[in-house]
Amino acid sequence: MPRKVNYGLDYDEDYDMYDDYDYDYDHDSDVERDGGMLEVRQAIAKPGIWRCSICTYDNDESMPVCDICGVFRNPPVNVSSTGSKKTDPFKFDRPSPDDLVSEGKNSSRKVSKGVPSNANEKVGTVKLPHAKKSECSLVSLPKGLLSTTNENVGTYKMPNVKSIEGSSVSLPKGSQFHADESICSSVNEEKPQSLASSFTDVTLSEKSGSSKTVNSKRATSHAEYKPEKWMLPEQNEGILTQLNLAIVGHVDSGKSTLSGRLLHLLGRISQKEMHKFEKEAKLKGKGSFAYAWALDESAEERERGITMTVAVAYFDSKKYHVVVLDSPGHKDFVPNMISGATQADAAILVIDASVGSFETGMDSNGGQTREHAQLIRSFGVDEIIVGINKMDAVSYSKERFDTIKMQLGTFLRSCGFKDSFVSWIPLSAMENQNLVKAASDIRLSSWYQGSHLLDAIDSLHPPIRDTVKPLRMPICDVIRSHLQGQVAASGKLESGAIRSGSKVLVMPSGDVATVRSLERDSQCCTIARAGDNVAVSLQGIDGGRVMAGGVLCHPDFPVAVATRLELKVLVLDIVMPILVGSQIEFHIYHAKEAARVVRIISLIDQKTGKVTKKAPRCLTSKQSAVIEVVLDGAVCVEEFSKCRALGRVFLRSSGRTIAVGIVSRIIEQ
Ligand code: GTP
Ligand code: MG
Repeated sequence: MPRKVNYGLDYDEDYDMYDDYDYDYDHDSDVERDGGMLEVRQAIAKPGIWRCSICTYDNDESMPVCDICGVFRNPPVNVSSTGSKKTDPFKFDRPSPDDLVSEGKNSSRKVSKGVPSNANEKVGTVKLPHAKKSECSLVSLPKGLLSTTNENVGTYKMPNVKSIEGSSVSLPKGSQFHADESICSSVNEEKPQSLASSFTDVTLSEKSGSSKTVNSKRATSHAEYKPEKWMLPEQNEGILTQLNLAIVGHVDSGKSTLSGRLLHLLGRISQKEMHKFEKEAKLKGKGSFAYAWALDESAEERERGITMTVAVAYFDSKKYHVVVLDSPGHKDFVPNMISGATQADAAILVIDASVGSFETGMDSNGGQTREHAQLIRSFGVDEIIVGINKMDAVSYSKERFDTIKMQLGTFLRSCGFKDSFVSWIPLSAMENQNLVKAASDIRLSSWYQGSHLLDAIDSLHPPIRDTVKPLRMPICDVIRSHLQGQVAASGKLESGAIRSGSKVLVMPSGDVATVRSLERDSQCCTIARAGDNVAVSLQGIDGGRVMAGGVLCHPDFPVAVATRLELKVLVLDIVMPILVGSQIEFHIYHAKEAARVVRIISLIDQKTGKVTKKAPRCLTSKQSAVIEVVLDGAVCVEEFSKCRALGRVFLRSSGRTIAVGIVSRIIEQ
């Protein structure tokens, strides 16, 4: 089963500067040096007070942290998540795709190729709700998520599941499950549940000696993990590899229209259903949105003519079982875009070619073409298709196409996309030009004979899957049935595998549950592996202990739960500098938490990766730095070197993404 969303700019291959260098900054020695500095500064302060090494404020002796900027009096011991003192500098663990290509090595992509998916599974579209941690998607889950048709397996329907063929999947009348009610009860009647509060619960339940609760500190080294045979991908011929494809771009660029049109052309939306959309859209005076309505399902989205949450749909190409993640382009819904598109393996960046529209998307002050491109790169996506849409609006002008390609190409390079991993397709979703077959309009075919969009999708490299690492499934949505006492978590497996009957550790609550059943693409399945989007029905656990923003793990290999992290970040275009003490929104996969910058450790040279300045007072646009943040509540997290998906972060402030980065060290668990 599909579900929804998350995010994070990834420095890995993207930033050239991070690619190849051995990061020779020695944290230990630095901390020791800093520590030395602290001692000196504190020594000269008056008796009974200590002077903050960062802001130089004189604090009372009793204060463990600086009253002004929140920096700890004594620098934290540089301890890794496993408790050992960290000596190895951070290093990206995967060479750049371009390096692999140019050196002719066997790409790791090829090695890990083939997360099989059931090509014959029926396809549906799923609306992914906003995955905020506390209010989270639970609030917006529609009714009818839980099918009671198969009581034995407890089949779950994802939010807004809808069959492409037009038979909308809904609960049988009289179903005992009322998703909204159950959800609302967890949201309205109680205080919104946060990861932090749940973490407190963990401590309590540990004390109470719950036999089902696992000590989250009992981390076993990933090196000791040996996958069982069933966990590894089968080499079945004829099974298509699943490709999670995010459709991103500035508001109104035509993402949903393009997605709807593709689904229709590929037979996933029936003619009958298309007529229905057309009729309804016309009645509402929104005839041009007919294709978009296939993805924009809520009344508000249709009324406003914008996508608000990521919608998920499926189609099969020659090579892939494609999971389409149609993202909202409006700037107000960037967190939703982050939460949904973070699971992408590749992306289509949709550009509106109309005069003025492309330029608005590229505006450094709020242009979503820019922000989405940066974000998608930060999700670890290194390969994109740029769909230059609405070419009909510029009479299929080659000059316009070339201008856009030149300007946007420069920007994409600056985001870390390699030229060889970007393809450019002129198209018109509205006039069906260049989508699944070569353009028929002579104005386009006279100068463009390259691939059409579907070919370009098939030309994408197969995604890498972490099948040999322990299970990690960030929870995107939770569906609870209080009446039946059932709970299901949906999300994409980032690593490892899961099957019916498996035990899983639900973090951050630390409870162990048993997998009752699995559902993928609205169909029951017995095994899911890294890369698969599934709904996991759990038993043996209180529904309240499973929450969006959490992670399902292998019971012996728990994910860390932390509040204090060291990050390596790239600052985007910002107006206000980032200071020690700056309040930020911290986003990581489907979780979001308020946070504060407590230390700016160093600036890094983007080309060499060397430290250029220690403890700068502030960070400005385009600087790379190592910083330390403290979160208001604990989140499940991994160092990027261990698990990319759980180690990518975004920092936002005042409705804008101000920095993207990776977790280089977990300081406090
Ligand atoms: P958000 O999800 O809100 O960011 O918008 P979107 O990118 O999904 O755009 P959507 O598909 O909702 O389309 C916005 C408008 O652009 C609609 O009126 C579409 O009819 C129009 N549109 C989409 N594709 C084309 C195209 O190829 N040519 C023309 N002329 N208009 C198009
Ligand atoms: Mg849309």
